[in-house]
Amino acid sequence: MPDTTFGSKGWTPDRLGKLDGKTYLITGANSGAGFQAARTLLKKGAKVVMLNRSVEKSKAAVAQLKTEFGDRADVSFVRMDLAALASVREAASEVLQNFLRIDALICNAAIAQVPTRKLTVDGFESQLGTNHYGHFLLCGLLFDRIAKSKGRIVVVASLGYNMGLKTIKFDDMNWNEGYSPNTAYSQSKLAQMMFAYELQDRLAAAGRTDVEVYVCHPGSSATSLITTSGSRTMRFIWWLMTKTPMVQTAEQGSYPEVMCATEEALTDQRALYGPTGRMEAVGPVGKGTLNPHAYDKPVMTKLWQASEGATGFDWKL
Ligand SMILES: NC(=O)c1ccc[n+]([C@@H]2O[C@H](COP(=O)([O-])OP(=O)(O)OC[C@H]3O[C@@H](n4cnc5c(N)ncnc54)[C@H](OP(=O)(O)O)[C@@H]3O)[C@@H](O)[C@H]2O)c1
Repeated sequence: MPDTTFGSKGWTPDRLGKLDGKTYLITGANSGAGFQAARTLLKKGAKVVMLNRSVEKSKAAVAQLKTEFGDRADVSFVRMDLAALASVREAASEVLQNFLRIDALICNAAIAQVPTRKLTVDGFESQLGTNHYGHFLLCGLLFDRIAKSKGRIVVVASLGYNMGLKTIKFDDMNWNEGYSPNTAYSQSKLAQMMFAYELQDRLAAAGRTDVEVYVCHPGSSATSLITTSGSRTMRFIWWLMTKTPMVQTAEQGSYPEVMCATEEALTDQRALYGPTGRMEAVGPVGKGTLNPHAYDKPVMTKLWQASEGATGFDWKL
């Protein structure tokens, strides 16, 4: 049964009131769903800080947003490469110096379908390193500021968590054996979800309600995700798909993350939010299906320990 909490059209930015005084951090916001989320939040008067790896693309994105919303639009960027833990640490310290509140940290950036196995500078398989370990460390470093702001962490996941192994390959996290672009991507997105659900558990165990953690996905959205890191064949297949109703716009793909960052009526954190139409890949935004392998407790707990070890970050709650 599709979720009807927000009516037959699902959640849309029409529900947003003014966001003056609020600060939203978005990773990977110079394109795709992240850029569209930035547009929506700015339109409502929020401050938006983009955490992006490319200075050049970030400057272009800021310029485009200022052209649309005027010079007073409060949008800036901090350079951060999620594939390098040192860069994540530097970016977090710059954020802590310059931004006193964080109403939501939207973990949106990702690479996907990397055709051949690659390692990050820290020696992690590139998709796991970028999508999961990078965000794990960033969330940990910014956590106290988010808590002080009574803010949210929003993890942008993927229906890919239902593909691949549906668990974490602890004996070979870096895919020395059996690498395939989709399986490794799926595992990285499952890891991001498990991080979020485990964080919810740890907050509850500590009796804390000062941070809310939501998980969403954009469905199938016409962004640059596959063009950036996918193989030539994948890019062609994806290009064909974008010509069909099976794929929605990047703007529609941004609604779940904006909803999870802002919507007061959301209460269920142990959920997966996204499109609720055909195959939950397109259509009205609401609560979708969440399969239990995404919150398999022993796996989540072990992954948390592995993530602390890999990032060298001892997360005290
Ligand atoms: N589009 C879909 O159909 C779909 C489906 C399921 C899930 N998702 C998820 O939706 C989220 C948004 O992706 P999108 O579709 O909007 O793709 P996108 O247009 O490619 O945006 C991804 C963003 O992540 C940034 N990024 C990549 N590697 C990074 C790194 N090492 N450090 C910092 N930023 C980095 C990219 O920066 P550059 O511009 O420098 O490359 C880009 O701004 C992702 O989490 C993705 O997994 C998308």
